[in-house]
Amino acid sequence: MTEYHDPQLAQQIRALDPLRADELLADLPKLNRAGDRAALAMTLTLLVDNGLAQPARSLPEANAAMRDLGMVLSSVRRHGDEPVEAVPRLEALLLDLADRTGLVPRDMILHYTVWNPTGDRERTFTGDPMERALIESVRLVGDDLEAAIRRCDRILAAPSLEAVPPLLLDELAADLQCMVDSMDMVIDEVRPEFFFTDIRPYLDPVLVEGKSYYGAAAAQMPIWLIDQALWAADDGHAEYRDFAASMLPYALPHWVGHYRDWTAKPSISGRIRTALAPYGTDDPPPHLERIAKAHTGVLRTLLTFRGRHMGITKRAYAGAPNMSGSGGGSVALLQEIIELTRAHARLTAPTRASAPS
Ligand code: HEM
Repeated sequence: MTEYHDPQLAQQIRALDPLRADELLADLPKLNRAGDRAALAMTLTLLVDNGLAQPARSLPEANAAMRDLGMVLSSVRRHGDEPVEAVPRLEALLLDLADRTGLVPRDMILHYTVWNPTGDRERTFTGDPMERALIESVRLVGDDLEAAIRRCDRILAAPSLEAVPPLLLDELAADLQCMVDSMDMVIDEVRPEFFFTDIRPYLDPVLVEGKSYYGAAAAQMPIWLIDQALWAADDGHAEYRDFAASMLPYALPHWVGHYRDWTAKPSISGRIRTALAPYGTDDPPPHLERIAKAHTGVLRTLLTFRGRHMGITKRAYAGAPNMSGSGGGSVALLQEIIELTRAHARLTAPTRASAPS
């Protein structure tokens, strides 16, 4: 499904309103504030009937329809009802949209953020400026992460490390800076407690054909795929591998393709370790040293994101440190991922002085 590569796709999906949901969704925060289960079920019924009467014709239409159904079905779930029990006709529509999009029969993080319109038409559960900031903080990383994926692919496609310009790794670090900027935006504009009490409850799993599907979790953004290229492909850490595998159902088709392809190859970190090994404590040749330094820079950027993200997460989940995150992970898993990233940065640092502490 090559259409997901189309740089215009997000723009197209944002502009569309195939279920004629604009006005109904403008009222969603009010219904959620009131906890009005009957009105939420009625809104869902109206959208489902519009969707069944006029099936989506294109990939952007199908994704815009899934986005809008997702806002309402997640609201229905948050107030205690299973959406397909509340509106049984919903199930067939979700399954049809899953077929047309090649994605799960539920909305994902891209629907809620990158494919969510901006301005007056922005879909929110609460209407709160902190929710809008959270949506924007993920929306703004979409393009840069796609660029990062393309750069990882170029690096891994090179016949050897000698053929990799170090600049490519510097550019990869610059792509990933978006994650640090995103955390800074969340730190400035969102109280972590607000996420936990006011947003997290809308992201609970729902059942479709008896199978459980997570809500729009930021963990679904393809950092797990970048990790795969950088260090995870040959790391063998079982818990991390299971976490990344659990993200695959919520991935775009080309992300899954890259994941499978990269899993069969040594990671960038693995290649650098192999190349550095013969030099022991001696200085490696300049090109290799430059590559190793640039790779450390990439992992440092990820560590900066992860350190700031951990600070926010610990505060958000302070009252329930063992509770599962919206993507099915945990605060303990995040700590584990930080340690793995740091370990790989140390293993490939060309000199002790350049290794992150
Ligand atoms: C208040 C804000 C946030 C909280 C409380 C939070 C919490 C969490 C939790 C508990 C996890 C564990 C996995 C799971 O979801 O089950 C997680 C993972 C993750 N989150 Fe967040 N998150 C927040 C905001 C964000 C934002 C804005 C982004 C991206 C722009 C993001 C990106 C990620 C990523 C990529 C992971 C996977 C783990 C990793 O790569 O280190 N998060 N988050």
